[in-house]
Amino acid sequence: MILIIDDDKAVRVSLALILKQAGYATRMAEDPQEGLAIAAEHSPELFILDMNFSVKTTGEEGLALLKELKHRHPDRPIILITAWGSIPLAVEGMKAGAADFITKPWNNDHFLQTVTTALSLSRSARENGAIVRSRAQLDALYDFEKIVGVDRQLLAILQTVGRVSGTDAPVLINGESGTGKELIAEAIHVNSPRRHGPFIRVNLGGIPTGLFESEMFGHRKGAFTDAVRDRVGRFALAEGGTIFLDEIGELEPNHQVKLLRVLQDRRFEVLGTSTTTMADFRLVCATNHDLRTAVGERRFREDLYYRINLITLNLPPLRERPDDIPLLVGYFVDNLRTIYRRPALAVGPRALAWLKTLPWPGNVRELKNLTERTALVTVRDDLDLDDFQRQSHPAPGHTGELPAVGAFTLDEMEKSMILKALEFHGGNLSKVARSLGLSRAALYRRLEKYGIAI
Ligand SMILES: Nc1ncnc2c1ncn2[C@@H]1O[C@H](COP(=O)(O)OP(=O)(O)OP(=O)(O)O)[C@@H](O)[C@H]1O
Ligand SMILES: [Mg+2]
Repeated sequence: MILIIDDDKAVRVSLALILKQAGYATRMAEDPQEGLAIAAEHSPELFILDMNFSVKTTGEEGLALLKELKHRHPDRPIILITAWGSIPLAVEGMKAGAADFITKPWNNDHFLQTVTTALSLSRSARENGAIVRSRAQLDALYDFEKIVGVDRQLLAILQTVGRVSGTDAPVLINGESGTGKELIAEAIHVNSPRRHGPFIRVNLGGIPTGLFESEMFGHRKGAFTDAVRDRVGRFALAEGGTIFLDEIGELEPNHQVKLLRVLQDRRFEVLGTSTTTMADFRLVCATNHDLRTAVGERRFREDLYYRINLITLNLPPLRERPDDIPLLVGYFVDNLRTIYRRPALAVGPRALAWLKTLPWPGNVRELKNLTERTALVTVRDDLDLDDFQRQSHPAPGHTGELPAVGAFTLDEMEKSMILKALEFHGGNLSKVARSLGLSRAALYRRLEKYGIAI
């Protein structure tokens, strides 16, 4: 049974109707006292709680009731309802242990999705929260084919991925560069009921400031000067599937609020039109920044933070799971054997032992690159310590020497360095700017100057 506590009868009745049509039993209470009494007697599976009680709404009453419910029914999820203007209150509520929040006026489908998600997360937490599964057990339950490793931290993550993949809960993936954030995001999609829908990755660090809205929401031809033809936005592309917002920490403040709106309302406007489009997507975000700190320093909106991180996964750096290194190398070598038709390709034990001792600032990606480079340049098939060491410290001269005087102008040098950085960072403009010691604005000016299209 779901208990709806709200002093506004119209809200109570319409929420109850939506839930009833979806097959849920409900009860209603119009004030905190009645809510607590019904809860004591019937022990609801989930609470829906309006934060703005009475006319003089400060939200304190709602917050006090939330804390009391949390205290008396600690394992029952509570979903808050709040007006768009009082999202800070919902954020307070999330800190006090609410499972999720929706804003008024709500979107019925999204409301139901929120309820289903909260219920299934709390059920699965109760059922298997304490069970720690082995890699073999996880593989029997889910598809983690491309993810190698048996480290405890990684297994705990895979277990959570499996547990939440059946729901629509938004997931935030934290981890250093190259730790496998994108791989995990894909695993969430592949194991979800949306697996046959699209998986759309958006690199938020790579979208030029002025193009954010058109990129995300799409535009009609003529919506602005450069809009020469219609463009389908990323949210529309992700319809029915998963949208993966990579580098969410790079989002500028005015774009943060626009994103929050779509996440709240589940609808958006295509630029140049006045109609709103409903959006059905599952959200997965990734960052290698510490978003908590960014929230503390007011660089990242707290309400958006609570909107995206219902589930947080912290991917361990490779140096914290050295025992996975031989497994990963084995996996990469296995792929190389097939790709390059070198069936005898193998890595010696001394090499593996040494690889386990390195710090790996670039994590799994760095290990993969080193393995591939070593295999490619070594003619023998049994790769050993020396082969890896040679590739890990490239001989001086290859990288250090400048071209002869007169070979290039400074502008030509600058342009080719930018192109090289773009290629190296896969078009990620934040990383390109950082690696060249430029601000993003300065990088954009140079891209324009050299006519480099991105
Ligand atoms: N556990 C793993 N098993 C197999 N391959 C992995 C694993 N983790 C990462 N990789 C590989 O390492 C590379 C980097 O992974 P991925 O792109 O997912 O990292 P990332 O955390 O998104 O990096 P960045 O922060 O730079 O975007 C990919 O080629 C990926 O397939
Ligand atoms: Mg990535």
